[in-house]
Amino acid sequence: MSKHTIVTLPGDGIGAIVLPQAIKVLNAAGFKADYLHGDIGWEFWCNEGNPLPQRTLDLIEKHKIALFGAITSKPNEEAKNELNPSLQGKGYIYSSPIVGLRQHFNLDICIRPCKSYKGNPLNFVRRGKGDTIDEPFIDVVIFRQNTECLYSGVEWTNPPEQVYQALLTHPKFVENFGNVPVEEISVSARIFTKQATVRILLAAFEYARKFGYKSVTVCEKPNVIRETSGLMWKLAKEIQKNSFPEIRLLNTNIDAQMMWLTKNPEEYGVIVAGNMFGDIASDAFAGLIGGLGFACSAQFSANGIAVFEPTHGSAPKYAGYEVSIVNPIAMVESACMMLDFINEKRISSKIRKAIASVIEEGKVRTYDMLKMAGRPEVVKNGAASTSQMTDAIISRLK
Ligand code: NAI
Ligand code: MG
Repeated sequence: MSKHTIVTLPGDGIGAIVLPQAIKVLNAAGFKADYLHGDIGWEFWCNEGNPLPQRTLDLIEKHKIALFGAITSKPNEEAKNELNPSLQGKGYIYSSPIVGLRQHFNLDICIRPCKSYKGNPLNFVRRGKGDTIDEPFIDVVIFRQNTECLYSGVEWTNPPEQVYQALLTHPKFVENFGNVPVEEISVSARIFTKQATVRILLAAFEYARKFGYKSVTVCEKPNVIRETSGLMWKLAKEIQKNSFPEIRLLNTNIDAQMMWLTKNPEEYGVIVAGNMFGDIASDAFAGLIGGLGFACSAQFSANGIAVFEPTHGSAPKYAGYEVSIVNPIAMVESACMMLDFINEKRISSKIRKAIASVIEEGKVRTYDMLKMAGRPEVVKNGAASTSQMTDAIISRLK
């Protein structure tokens, strides 16, 4: 019996391509585990009316740790049409299995590290003094509250009477929207709870302390979104003052942060935000370190369930290539986050060093790193295929 059991959720499109690559690297690096396959994604929507079957939830519940590739989501109309004819008209409604996973297991803490690799041709550069080119070293870790905010699904178009009446109790609503016919109003509720906000803040501060980051930046907009962003900022000040006085607490507004991103990205360490702004900030910082081929993530619940996944999607148009060209690094990096979580740090550090060495050497580069358009012929034109990149990483494992 091996030491760990990992649930693998390859999902759709390139998710099912990059996940086996990561497992190849884990095996080569000496990680011992049993892998149990879990069904998730479009196929299960079409054939069962549920992209996240109960048996998959049970498997994750039992084994706690999952490695996830990516899934395909489509708009409601398409989802309805692609449902197996025997299931149509029976009340099945598509909803994203990723959001479903997060809510079912309350995976409320999402961590997205963005760290530059030396020699990555996709690293952000800026104009320095005179004619010099500066390549700042970026090491930012984004903590995104993963279950609340605008993603909680509490929303209406033409809100029901009770909701409309409740809105009318707010003077600002009366002033600004009082004359708009109710059927022309769409509302998405931005809900923050104290409990979940404290949890994401504590996770961010503890991480900063443990890994030596000097600052935690709350990236919201408390000057305008006073209740929800305001709550996070207020709690952050209390937590910093009472428990983490040695860590500097900074406050940036999401809009300004997007501008400062390209000005002084090296000055940020840990960033913490609600669900929506955390999503934005993490994609933006990922863009500075190479984009979707490099962006990894981890999601945790309070009771020990953890799901590790690249932030990219299923990139369906790349999934059918005879020789896959997508970059497996984001998936491999996500697997390294899993290794850290289960205390296999020697192996994760070995894999990260191997990735760093491949990138720095610069001989093996996937199409994205060569700034090519992602067509099948890129491999003929000098780009590494997905498996060539995997093999290069494996060849550097020491
Ligand atoms: P996407 O992330 O799948 O792809 C966008 C583009 O990014 C691709 O066309 C490709 O140019 C590039 N890209 C993505 N992964 C790459 C990799 N590993 N290496 C090199 N280049 C890479 O996002 P898109 O096209 O918006 O969505 C496609 C499908 O994925 C949709 O059905 C969407 O709902 C779903 N999706 C799923 C996510 C998940 O499972 N976590 C996250 C985002 C989208
Ligand atoms: Mg995103």
